[in-house]
Parts: sequence; structure tokens; C-alpha cells
Amino acid sequence: MGLRTIRDIDLTGKRVLMRVDFNVPLKEGVVTDATRIETALPTVKYILEQNGTSLVVMSHLGRPKGVKNQAFSLAPVARKFSELLGREVIMAPDCVGKETEQLAADLKPGQVLLLENVRFYKEETENNAEFAEKLSRLGDVYVNDAFGSAHRAHASTEGIASYLPSAAGLLIEKEVSFFGTLLTNPEKPFVAVIGGAKVSSKIGVLESLLDTCDVIVIGGAMAYTFLKLQGRSIGKSMFEEEYSSTAESFLSKAKERSVKILLPLDHIAAAEFSESAEPVPVDSVDIPDDLIGLDIGEKTLAEIETVLSSAASIVWNGPMGVFEIEQFSQGTLKVAQMIASSKGTTVVGGGDSVAAVNKFGLADRVSHVSTGGGASLEFLEGKVLPGIAVLETKE
Ligand code: 3PG
Repeated sequence: MGLRTIRDIDLTGKRVLMRVDFNVPLKEGVVTDATRIETALPTVKYILEQNGTSLVVMSHLGRPKGVKNQAFSLAPVARKFSELLGREVIMAPDCVGKETEQLAADLKPGQVLLLENVRFYKEETENNAEFAEKLSRLGDVYVNDAFGSAHRAHASTEGIASYLPSAAGLLIEKEVSFFGTLLTNPEKPFVAVIGGAKVSSKIGVLESLLDTCDVIVIGGAMAYTFLKLQGRSIGKSMFEEEYSSTAESFLSKAKERSVKILLPLDHIAAAEFSESAEPVPVDSVDIPDDLIGLDIGEKTLAEIETVLSSAASIVWNGPMGVFEIEQFSQGTLKVAQMIASSKGTTVVGGGDSVAAVNKFGLADRVSHVSTGGGASLEFLEGKVLPGIAVLETKE
């Protein structure tokens, strides 16, 4: 049994209703990063290549909280989508209602209609059944390719599948294949590099990775909570006291299961956390009382390089330091370069680490850069993603 994809169904003559995640960054009405549009194109093109098909595309943009607000209109996205697809995209004035139903009904084979933001209705995030049924009137078959929104049980990602035959698009298929393999049957040695600010937001993924990983590298501000629990001085670095028992139990589980945990051995610190802060290399695990750890140091990087050079699978989620500030970005940059040079399967997920590989121009040297922030994290935590669970399966 597996996920039923668009390749498993006959789309001939069908009007396909496709959920995508076109929640892209915009500046003054222009899309500044079109990755999420580009990654939906293989599915869009596949559907349009089938005999007699037309396509209705729907998405959310931002969080307009159930109110029609032109600042969250998908109209600028329609322009970029049309440019990248190389054909006209008709922009609907709404996502439900008579006029939109008529526009969808009038589509000729090969035509594409983009609906207005589904979050202009609060019923979308409430997963309201009547609203899902109204959306379902716009197509004969439902295809979900919105991996980035698959962790949301909303009307356009979950509820709608009760009203139409459903299948996954090629992006969801690809994301599930990469993350699924890491969770069930990764090539070994499997190394996870997990960073970020808070233990609280990453503890789920750390626990889940204990099942399949050989080594877990922990960086970013959350590493200081673990170091303090090991009796180290962390100066003025961040310490999440309320998560100390959870973090402690994680460390003992890792020991029981012989999973090596690699914590920073040295640091780049500063007297304060600011754009102009002077970087101070700290050549020991312990950080002086008056300093804050803001990046990993050279010794740590050398150790990470040894571990990553022999890895057959690597997953990376979360920066190693404050990579937005030049003088504290080197740890994240060097780890990104090591991952990009790996001969193993490399998967990068999570908003900040994806931003980092893009910023450093390394995205095309990674096996898979996920389009999901929250979704990729929840997938790695082993959670069920409602937008995927609801899709039909094949024998
Ligand atoms: C994302 O950008 O992570 C997705 O589009 C989901 O957006 P949301 O967090 O507003 O549901």
C-alpha cells in the first residue's frame, strides 16, 4: 500500500482541482522567492499534458484571518505563475461562489484558473465541511501538492478529500519519499544536524531521530541548554530551564541506544547579541561568564566534518549560529558547504536552513531541499500530516 499519485489515475477529460502551497514572500506586489511556484510546476505540467484536462489551482497566502484583504491577494502570484508556466493563468475574484463556479465550469482543455486566497474565509482554517464541499464543486478530482501546508487540517488540505476522488501530486510524492526513507530505512551511517534557537521546538525531532540516526550533531542556541546539563559553563548564553528534564532524558536515551550526540566543543561568542557585536573566539567548551555563545568554533567544525565525511545519509534542520549576522554565520556556512560536498543523500528542511543553503547558493548541490518548514519538522517528528493521511492509497 502506498500513496496514490496522479500517475495512478486516469485524468482524461477531467477538471483537476489542485491545492498548492503558493505561500511565497512578496515585496511591493512582486514575488521575491518563487521556489514554491517552481516546485509545483512538474505536477501542473503533468496534469496539463493529459488528454483534455483543465486545471483549477488553490492556495493560501499569509494569515489574513478569514478576512478579504487585498494585501494577501494571490493576484501577484498569478502573474509569476503564468510567467513560469509559459501560459495564461486566469485569476478568479474569489475561491468559492457562483462566479468562481462558472469560471471553473467554463474552462477549456489546457486552461488554468487560480483561485483567490482560501484563507479569505475563516471556514478554511476551521476545516468547515460546507466550505470544503463548496470548493469541491470546482473540480472532478482533487490533487494535493501542497507539502508545505500538509501539516494543516484545513478545508482545502484535508476536508475536501471527503468530496472528491483524491491523489498526491509529484512534489508531495518526492517529499514523502525523501523524508519517509530517513525515518524508516536510511542508508547508514545516518547523521542528523539539528540546530536552531530552542530545545522546545526541536525536542520532538531529536527524539524521533534517535530511532534511525547514528550521530546527531546539535548546534545553535539550543546546544547551550544541553551543555549546561553536562555541567558546563555557558556564560550568558540561552538556557531553557523548563526543558532541562526533557533534554536530560533525551541525552540518557541517546546513551542507551548508542547514538552519538555531538555538542559544540568551542564557540564564537560576544559580549552582546547585536549586529555590531565583536566576535570573540572561545577555545573551550566552557564559555566565560560575561559572554554569549553565538556560533560554533573551528574545533567543532573539524569534528562535524569528520562525522559528515563518512555519512551515507544526512538531514539538516536549523542553523548552527546566528547566520543572519555576518560575524556569526561561518558555522552555518561551513556546515552547509560540508553537506553540499557530501556524496551521500542529503536532505535540508526547515525555514532557516533552507534560507541558509539558498543564501549561500548551495541548494542545487543538495539531494533534496524541502518546501516545508513546519511540515518537514512535523514529518521528521514522526507525526501524521493530515493533508497526506487523507489522500487515497493504492494497493
Ligand atoms: C508555511 O509557510 O510554512 C506554510 O505555507 C504554512 O503556513 P501557515 O504556518 O500559515 O499555516
